[in-house]
Amino acid sequence: SRIDAVEKVTGRALYAADLSLPGMLWGKVLFATHPHARILSLDTTEAAALPGVQAILTALDIPGAKEIGAVIEDQPALAVDRVRFLGDGVALVAADTQAIAEEARKHISVEYEPLPGVFTPEEALTPGAPALHEARPDNVVNRHRVRKGDIAAAFGQAEVVLEREYRTQLIEHAYLEPEAVLAIPDPDKKGVQVIGSIQNPFSTRSFVARALALDLNRVRISQSTLGGSFGGKDEVMYIMAIRAALLALKCGRPVKMVNDREDSLRESYKRHPYKMRYKVGATRQGKLTAMEIRILADAGAYAAQSPFVTWRSTVEATGPYEIAAVSTDVTAVYTNNTYTGAMRGFGSPQVIFAVESLMDELAVELGIDPVELRRRNLYRQGSITATNQVLEGHTVSLEEVMDRALAAIEWDPAGQKVANPDPMPSSGGSGRRGLGLALSFRGCSLGAEGLDFSTARCSLEPDGSVLLALGISENGAGQRTVFTQIAAQTLGLPLERIRILDADTYLAPDAGPTVASRGTLMGGNAVLKAAAALRTNLQQVGGTAFGLPPAEVRITPQGLAGREGQILCWGPLVQAAQRLGAPLDVSATFQAPAVDWEEERGQGNAYFTYVYACQAAEVEVDTATGQVRVLRVAAAHDMGRAINPQMALGQIYGGVAMGLGYALLEEVELRDGETRTLNFDTYELPTAADMPQVMPILVENPDPAGPYGAKSLGEPTNELLAAAVANAIANATGRRIRELPCDLERVLLGISLREKREKRSSQA
Ligand code: MOS
Repeated sequence: SRIDAVEKVTGRALYAADLSLPGMLWGKVLFATHPHARILSLDTTEAAALPGVQAILTALDIPGAKEIGAVIEDQPALAVDRVRFLGDGVALVAADTQAIAEEARKHISVEYEPLPGVFTPEEALTPGAPALHEARPDNVVNRHRVRKGDIAAAFGQAEVVLEREYRTQLIEHAYLEPEAVLAIPDPDKKGVQVIGSIQNPFSTRSFVARALALDLNRVRISQSTLGGSFGGKDEVMYIMAIRAALLALKCGRPVKMVNDREDSLRESYKRHPYKMRYKVGATRQGKLTAMEIRILADAGAYAAQSPFVTWRSTVEATGPYEIAAVSTDVTAVYTNNTYTGAMRGFGSPQVIFAVESLMDELAVELGIDPVELRRRNLYRQGSITATNQVLEGHTVSLEEVMDRALAAIEWDPAGQKVANPDPMPSSGGSGRRGLGLALSFRGCSLGAEGLDFSTARCSLEPDGSVLLALGISENGAGQRTVFTQIAAQTLGLPLERIRILDADTYLAPDAGPTVASRGTLMGGNAVLKAAAALRTNLQQVGGTAFGLPPAEVRITPQGLAGREGQILCWGPLVQAAQRLGAPLDVSATFQAPAVDWEEERGQGNAYFTYVYACQAAEVEVDTATGQVRVLRVAAAHDMGRAINPQMALGQIYGGVAMGLGYALLEEVELRDGETRTLNFDTYELPTAADMPQVMPILVENPDPAGPYGAKSLGEPTNELLAAAVANAIANATGRRIRELPCDLERVLLGISLREKREKRSSQA
């Protein structure tokens, strides 16, 4: 079970919004009122005069970097002279109460000169289109490419060529807990602590320090209990932490900022919408010979993680199929829409929706069963990927996960189109059932995105209990439970004797970001290494004391044991260690195996290992209304090894639930950059009542690169379902839906009735 289960279930866990301190002020942001505009003037006098208002700040009050960013420094914590989307902050208020802060922001007057905006990547790329950032006149955030083989020749030799376009929508993480922080100035006002709902304390620290012009050691970032993130609490939290820290240092008092749901939906980044053109060539026998892929990603107003998100898409865009010739271009483009960034899957759900739909469409074209078509092309041991990486050193279990999922859902291609014998009671229509599947391969951890390392600290206390610390945070996936298990197992001590410290830049060593499903793999490896080093030191002390080879010394809950009757209890043991100079407070750094990437042709060993997955879905479509019910989902995931099988199952249920929303319901609707779905009344999320029967299948092929063989699970569980459901709908109805979500109109009529889409298609 989880080490943090009781506090969460009983409501005793402290989330950032629960924290308060004497003398605390409340901070609020004034948001832009135009999606693209120059700020001509800003008048704060009226607001500042309101009773209870303690400070009003603008970009002029930021002492350090005005713009920040993980890759491209283009995002202001407060708009400098221009706003680029409706979630930009223009001014900050600190006041005695939240109500006063909210009221005060209404009394700040801003004079704008509206600028023409661009709201689709195509518009933004049109020559002469308004540029969002002076440094990037073409509105291109980044481009990635893959060039493998002779693509023209390969298409020339193909017997069948299919071209299709697929689109995915803008979606919201919808974490239960909106963004919240509490900033506390140091008594000498030379530094600041920010406690908050923060996914990555170390990256947050670097941006707070840069914006406030402080040394890193003057900035303490502490993660409070976090109510969900799913990749969503990075940039938006950097910005919020900077704002709160600025107010706190200015006022010399603690400042709390809590977004309500509408502010959260307005300002937080989302998952990229993609437009994807795929062209595939194959032989009549169903052997893929060529694939050309052109993708446009809407980055919105700021680069954020777009270069990394689109890089993962580039590596994984062909799906897990061996193809001799591949040409892929992925471009992320600035628009005046809400910016987009990391979200569980990180560039994979979009391309999987496209390529797995394409595989089914090709199967129909060739008259080959979709499973058989996949079997003829899928990655096997030693296969070569689009980036020319040989898949070796781990078990390539794609066919295994596919067969396990198909068996669980009782896949019967011949008997797929069973009409429900019972008519749909409410609508008068009938129910048509269908089955669909999707496959994926996924690179674990950061890959060639960046330096991949992780540090953990393990120290033995004089009573034999252990403190464990590392900067991988508990984002709700159970990371800290897994680390505690790994330390306990490695040291041979009971779980209860290990206490893991909070993810806090003053308490824990940097273990890299908690992203890319790297927690267990990278953090776990560092914990394993630190615990093993501590064990070695303990065995050395015991060996000296007992006159034995260290390997014969065992660790027990009472202390060290040697031969029959030889016992060294914890107290004397610690003293013996001090006499010998053997450290019992040990740090260890795990460096990921090497990866490489050649940018020009997009070739290289992109990730040091991969995971494989298959999800298969059974749906029932109401022919009168277009409503889709997902009845059953079989989800087979090879995560190397399940360190905590119960939590692994939780990941699968959660990933399927989120995938269901992406498949059927969710869409952040923007009109000219304005978010129309500002709360969960209009932004539709699946509920428990929508959940299918989920059949999770844990496939374990231990990976030599992982701690006890474990690698990744969190994101893969959320990348497949939309594709499987779209395939199942096509199987049930004959209607192919190439744009998410598969909502009523698309399923029933084949089109979307939403206004913004009419606008978009008139421009296409
Ligand atoms: Mo995660 S989506 O890599 O923060």
